[in-house]
Formats: sequence, C-alpha cells, structure tokens
Amino acid sequence: MNNILDKFPRTQIVHAPTPLEHMPNLSKHFGDYNLYVKRDDCTGLGMGGNKARQLEFYFGEALAQGCDTILITGAVQSNYMRMAAAFARKCGMDCHLQLEDRVPDKPAEYHNSGNVTLYKVYGATLHHYPDGEDEEGADKQLKEIADSLVNQGKKPYIIPLTLSETPKGALGYVAAAFELDQQFKEQKLNPAAIIVASGSSYTHTGLLTGLRLVDNQVPVIGACVRRDAVQQKARVHQCAQYLCNNLLDTSGDLKTLIDDADVLVEDFCLDGGYGKITDQTKNAIQLLAHNEGLLSDPVYSGKAFACAFGLIEQGRFQQGDDIVIIHTGGTPALFAYNSIF
Ligand SMILES: Cc1ncc(COP(=O)(O)O)c(C=O)c1O
Repeated sequence: MNNILDKFPRTQIVHAPTPLEHMPNLSKHFGDYNLYVKRDDCTGLGMGGNKARQLEFYFGEALAQGCDTILITGAVQSNYMRMAAAFARKCGMDCHLQLEDRVPDKPAEYHNSGNVTLYKVYGATLHHYPDGEDEEGADKQLKEIADSLVNQGKKPYIIPLTLSETPKGALGYVAAAFELDQQFKEQKLNPAAIIVASGSSYTHTGLLTGLRLVDNQVPVIGACVRRDAVQQKARVHQCAQYLCNNLLDTSGDLKTLIDDADVLVEDFCLDGGYGKITDQTKNAIQLLAHNEGLLSDPVYSGKAFACAFGLIEQGRFQQGDDIVIIHTGGTPALFAYNSIF
C-alpha cells in the first residue's frame, strides 16, 4: 500500500517521521488516560506545521511542470501561506499570497504580526481579497493574478482553495497516516481515537483515508474550526470520495473505503467561527503550555486540543485509553492574538 503515492510528483522537504510523544503530565491531569501528541508542528521548514505535508505534493507538481511562481490564497493569518512562501524560496520560486478578510474586527496586531511578519521576511508579494467566505471568488481572483503573470512571461502555479479543484494536499496526510500507523505498531499503541483540527479538511480526510488503506480502524475525530459539524462532515466525505476515486484510484476499488459513518466531527470548540476564540480554547492552550511546555495556536491546533480535553471531560473515553492528538502547528499566530493572553 505504501507505494500508492509513488505516482504523484513530490518534493520531500518535511522532517519525517515527526515524533509521536507521550504527554505524562496532561495524562495525569485528566485522571488516568494515556495522552499522546503527534508533533506535526515539527515538520521543519518555515516554523513547521501540517501544511508542509500537503505542500510537498503541490510543489512536486509545480516543479515537474517547470513553474517559477506560486500563488495561494488564505486568511490574513495563514500558516499555509507562510509555509508556501518558505517552500517557494527553498525551491527557488517567487510567491504571491492573497490575504482574505476572513475574521472581522481584529485589532492591528492581527494584521501586522505573526504570520504576516513572516510573509514579509520571505519577500512574498501580497494581494488582498475583501471577502472571507467566497472561496470561488478568491480562487477566481488568484487566476486573474496568474493570468497577468503569464503576460509578464512568468510560469505560475496555483494552489487552489475550492473543493471543486483536486484535493492534492490530502495526499500528504495519506503519507502521514502510513507513518503514524507504523509508530503505533512500534510503540504498541491502540488508540481509542485520534483528534485533529478540520478546516479545508485535507488533513482530516488524508489521515482517515490513509489509515483505512492500511486497515487501521481507529476513529478519527475532526475538531471543526471553520464550519459547523453538518457542513464539515459533508465536506470531509466529499473530499474523501474524490481522493479515493479520482486521485488514488480510478478503478472503483476504493469506492466503499470511507462511508458516511466513518466521518466523525465535533463542533463544540468552534467558538463562534473561524479565528474566533473563547475561554475553552484559551484554557486549552494554557493547559498544554503549563503541563507539557508545548505551544499551540488559537485558530487550529488549540481548538483540537480543546476538543480532545472536552471529550475527555464529557466521559467519551475510558480511563487507560490511548488518545492521540495531532499537533498541526500554527504557533506563529499566537503573536497575532497577543492581547488575549
Ligand atoms: C495549524 C493548522 N492546523 C490545522 C489546519 C487545518 O488543516 P486542513 O485545512 O487541512 O483541514 C490548518 C489549516 O490551515 C492549520 O494552519
């Protein structure tokens, strides 16, 4: 099964395998659970994070096509765009970032620090898009920028946002699932659940699909960070269908690999929407930092930790269970939320 990814061009930049670590202090804090963290905040280049695994496949294709400029759209504080800028520089390319107004009423620190500082350090060209919920419009404007670059003699490559485009990024988490399954075997873990932030859904979808491909049936719970549970479940399912039947395999053999019941999502940590933060996420970020010395972020990984802690408090797991949380990174965004702390 490990060779299912071989047909896709890939630029291997991630420091893999990332560690799978026990969190002894937090385990004790909650009673007698065995809490583990998959350190995908430690993927290396550009301060790390989950998006690095996805970018390996987009940059692989971009380089195979001889492209010289990367275009990508995202929230103002986008870890994806920060890492895309890092990958572009590493691969000798230029980078255009489109900043969408996804989170209203944010103070100046949100617009001037964290990931925004790092875009500038990388010397990326910045564009703006005045809407945060119009994925098609954001992709359309990116295409217009790409067209103008073509007129200037450049060869651009667009990393798309909408689900109507091929979700190549999910391949990165198929690879991560194979890595994780191997680590479970080596560390003799049999987790009751894996909890991961679920946004575009590529991380969640790739992880779930990869685990099922190696016949590991561990429940994968997506912590919603942008859409409610009903919308996010549909998105993950749609993405999984495309990944299985159009990307990984076209014979129809994977049609039933992921069914609707296998897509688990929780939205009690959505905190009122994307980039918004309430006490439960703030408390989870602090609990993790105070007990394990680990930094997370307010938009994604902090919400995944808050979701895991909430599920434990709700009695969803039994004492003695192994529970794995994917640390997807995002820590530079902490600086953009400075005033909360
Ligand atoms: C730090 C971090 N964690 C999790 C996610 C969510 O991943 P996905 O968009 O693949 O669902 C993102 C997305 O940008 C992220 O930056």
